[in-house]
Amino acid sequence: MARLVIATLLLFHLILLSCFVYSQGQLDYTEQGDEGALADPKEPREEQQDTNNEVPEKTEKKKKKPNKKEKKQKQQKKNDDDVDVDEEPRNKLVPDLPAVTSYGPPAGTPVATSSNAPTTQDTSAVPDLLQNVIVLTGLRLGFYNQSCPRAEEIVAESMAQIFQTNPRAPANILRLQLHDCFVGGCDASILLDSTPSGENVEKSSAINFILLKGADLIDDIKLKLEEACPQTVSCADTIAFAAREALVLTGLPRLPQPSGRRDGLVSLSANVDALKNLPEPVWTMDQEIELFKRKGFTEEEMVILNGAHSIGGAHCNVITPRLENYKNSGNPDPDLDPAFLEQLKGICFDPKEVNRNPFVNFDETPTKLDNLFYRNLVEKKALLQTDQALFTDPRTRQFVQAMADNPDEFAKRLGPLMLRMGSLEVLTEPAGEVRKTCRSTN
Ligand code: HEM
Repeated sequence: MARLVIATLLLFHLILLSCFVYSQGQLDYTEQGDEGALADPKEPREEQQDTNNEVPEKTEKKKKKPNKKEKKQKQQKKNDDDVDVDEEPRNKLVPDLPAVTSYGPPAGTPVATSSNAPTTQDTSAVPDLLQNVIVLTGLRLGFYNQSCPRAEEIVAESMAQIFQTNPRAPANILRLQLHDCFVGGCDASILLDSTPSGENVEKSSAINFILLKGADLIDDIKLKLEEACPQTVSCADTIAFAAREALVLTGLPRLPQPSGRRDGLVSLSANVDALKNLPEPVWTMDQEIELFKRKGFTEEEMVILNGAHSIGGAHCNVITPRLENYKNSGNPDPDLDPAFLEQLKGICFDPKEVNRNPFVNFDETPTKLDNLFYRNLVEKKALLQTDQALFTDPRTRQFVQAMADNPDEFAKRLGPLMLRMGSLEVLTEPAGEVRKTCRSTN
């Protein structure tokens, strides 16, 4: 009898224990489910930090539950990462990578000694253009020499590293810089996911949304800069340094990059769309010339800046309006070489790609800033109508021909012009701020 009582008691305990274990299991499952729904599976970095931290995992997880703003930023980053459905360019292989051999301004370039010093440095050893940029903008060479001496080196190392696995990175960065600088100046406003005003940001305008890449690359570089020198190097300077590296990695000489840009607090999609600050591939030459003139560039300089289309490429949705029924003519664009037209149709109308938006390189050397882009224009082999118009329009034809005939001239002229573009309407102290993260104001 006593045995029976003990056995019954044991059984009762066992049932109670399993109920408790089950209920704990349910709870754990629910928590993980919640977390899983919020967490971005593409962000292992955060999980790595969790395991390195001594705070017990559960407490840490609870603590890290993102607030509304963080959730929005995470989702935006996910969008940035997700939109590219066509990672592999379709018409050419990518060549081998050039190596970074030196960092910062060339030897002998005079630099400022203090980050607060006025712009009195001797710039006689650098080209006139650079001197003009420095005088006109208040930017300086070696701005971070005291406050973050390795800043330029960190960006150079990061870009070289990124380029190893993502040869399209330089093209992403150059376009990002254009889209930042032409809209309210080079103040990293293109990187903001939101601003305190709650209005639609530049990033959300049709021309930037989805097809603009590179914001995530700047995030990665900025993270490294923050580790070395918290809240010291602005996002606007990070873009400028990264753009300088983009030119070097694609074969141009290294130019000194003046710095001291501050980050803007405003980002409005209306400044992109309503003010027509970014060129569109369907624009007329008049519109193009007007915009570049407004930004301070001559027709010749516009042709050379457009030579940035020697790297990277475009998506088929931008190209297909030229491939059939161009401007309701019932025919393709007559300014397309027939063999090239067929090649493009093969890529963009490939039935296997119906639900995708394939990516096509601008030329056969998509990671090299060479003059092949111009030689292709002469042969009617441009992806964009606006690019082809540079050769068909009598106002700009001679400049295209000059670049097509002289590769060294293009290599010599693009860098300084990019440097000028990267210094448009910059903010300097005390305006703006130095953001902690590039996606939101402080
Ligand atoms: C009339 C002038 C311009 C127009 C209409 C234009 C338009 C475009 C378009 C539609 C794309 C393809 C986007 C895509 O499908 O992913 C593109 C790509 C690109 N643009 Fe422009 N652009 C112009 C001028 C410039 C200038 C001045 C620069 C640089 C200084 C530049 C740099 C780039 C780069 C590097 C890419 C390749 C991006 C990549 O592969 O990720 N563009 N541009």
